[in-house]
Amino acid sequence: MTKSNVESWGSRVGLVLAMAGNAVGLGNFLRFPVQAIQNGGGAFIIPYLVCFLLMGIPLLFIEWSMGRFGGRFGHHSTPFIVNSMDPKRVFWKYIGVFGIFTNLAVAAYYCYLESWTLSYIWHSVAGSFQGQTADQISDFFTGYISLSDGGYETVFFWIFCLLLNTWILSKGLSGGVEKVAKIGMPLLILFGILLAIKGVTLTAGEEGAINDGTVGLNYLWTPDYSTIWSAKVWLAAAGQIFFTLSVGMGSIQCYASYVKRKDDIALNAMSAGWMNEFVEVVLGSSILIPIAIGYLGIDKVVELTQSGGLGLGFKTLPYLFQQWGDVLAALAGIAWFGLLFFAGITSSLAMGTPCMGFLMDEFKWKREQSAWAFGLAIFILGLPTVLFFEQGVFDEYDYWAGTVSLVVFALAEIILFAWVFGMDKGWKEINRGADIKVPPVFKFIIQFVTPVILGWVFFASLPDIWKKITNADLKAKLLETTDPAQIQAINDQMAYLNGSRVLLVALFISISYLVYVAYRKRVKEGRGIV
Ligand code: PHE
Repeated sequence: MTKSNVESWGSRVGLVLAMAGNAVGLGNFLRFPVQAIQNGGGAFIIPYLVCFLLMGIPLLFIEWSMGRFGGRFGHHSTPFIVNSMDPKRVFWKYIGVFGIFTNLAVAAYYCYLESWTLSYIWHSVAGSFQGQTADQISDFFTGYISLSDGGYETVFFWIFCLLLNTWILSKGLSGGVEKVAKIGMPLLILFGILLAIKGVTLTAGEEGAINDGTVGLNYLWTPDYSTIWSAKVWLAAAGQIFFTLSVGMGSIQCYASYVKRKDDIALNAMSAGWMNEFVEVVLGSSILIPIAIGYLGIDKVVELTQSGGLGLGFKTLPYLFQQWGDVLAALAGIAWFGLLFFAGITSSLAMGTPCMGFLMDEFKWKREQSAWAFGLAIFILGLPTVLFFEQGVFDEYDYWAGTVSLVVFALAEIILFAWVFGMDKGWKEINRGADIKVPPVFKFIIQFVTPVILGWVFFASLPDIWKKITNADLKAKLLETTDPAQIQAINDQMAYLNGSRVLLVALFISISYLVYVAYRKRVKEGRGIV
């Protein structure tokens, strides 16, 4: 190992904050509330919490211990981390490709979204939304993502955001990522608490609100058993748990691979995981939903989320803030978009590390070079999401990389951990160095319950996956219309979606090829997997 490749965490607090920063992301504030509303509010929360306990926590234990285990052999990305748990079967390294692929593909669209928050912070400071109508603020957003004014501003903030990520990554774990987490996480929580207080104490009849803030909260937290057995709701809940905890991605393994062999992981994993849940269920449900429902009512908000959820955070909220007077509106805008920015960047940095770890471990690249390689990769992969956002490329990436891949990888991981590596060995790994022993019931859960749930999630998703692959929804729309312009538009959209899938497959194959080359190199140097 060359000197520049020796990375480690500076402190335990730093590690936990970085891991929490990895998990706490745009998903907590934008995706969670929207999923909850789309799935009936109170009907969503029970499956969500069950998935957290029976799937999220077990996967956190597994991924942390896998990462620390692989780190022992100098592996910092999933292809060889995964393979080190069953070194005889060399195909595992290709399963591990998911852990680099997903991070790159998610980072590609995630950083674009993250860059919007920078622009919106700027506009909040500059007071651009002052005195504007709801339509004007909404048109600004539409113009922003459709690049209608030439796209200069959009592209400027996007490139700036990519450079910022690259630069921080080039400073390393303790010198970059950890520092950002130590500043960003406390600020995020502070901004979140301020906005949550404002959201929850909203009073009907004051500042134009029609409902108390508690109406939105009750909508979310009053259990509704009527749709609790709907597979759709369970799949959405499982998907949210994956995305929000960053499990099935490969970034937790990468962070954990820099933890020392005897360091605690059980308690660290729980601290980071529960911090994420605090931010998601307490802060994430006390801002967007109470404020939106406070001003617009439940029905209107449900309707608004039917066509995707990003509008709620970028169109509705900035407008509603204006009801609080210029100064408070500016402050609320800075707090909201600032919080989103910190949430976003501590996550996108986590997405950069697996690919960097791979290049540094296997090809002996320097940290700076690897960071630039990551920056360049997400520039190229992100370009289609910027240029063709409206054709659905952004959502397509989110579906394949941010949803399906996670389940596939997590399923493979749990089989490897509990059944191939073996649960007895696995349990020892989880508990080695643990400050607080994990309750034994989790041994049973990890071995039997989580794999069954994951298997169910996977098989239950297959019909939807098939519908996507065959563009079934778009084809159905095609049959409904005779308008040539519309037919053309639908055909165009299909071409964009197919194109983005080809790009993602090409990315997966390219990474697999690099893993193959790395493996050949290892064999030639007489090193093998471990
Ligand atoms: N967990 C992050 C969120 O909630 C997303 C993420 C994905 C983070 C992949 C790291 C890796 O937004």
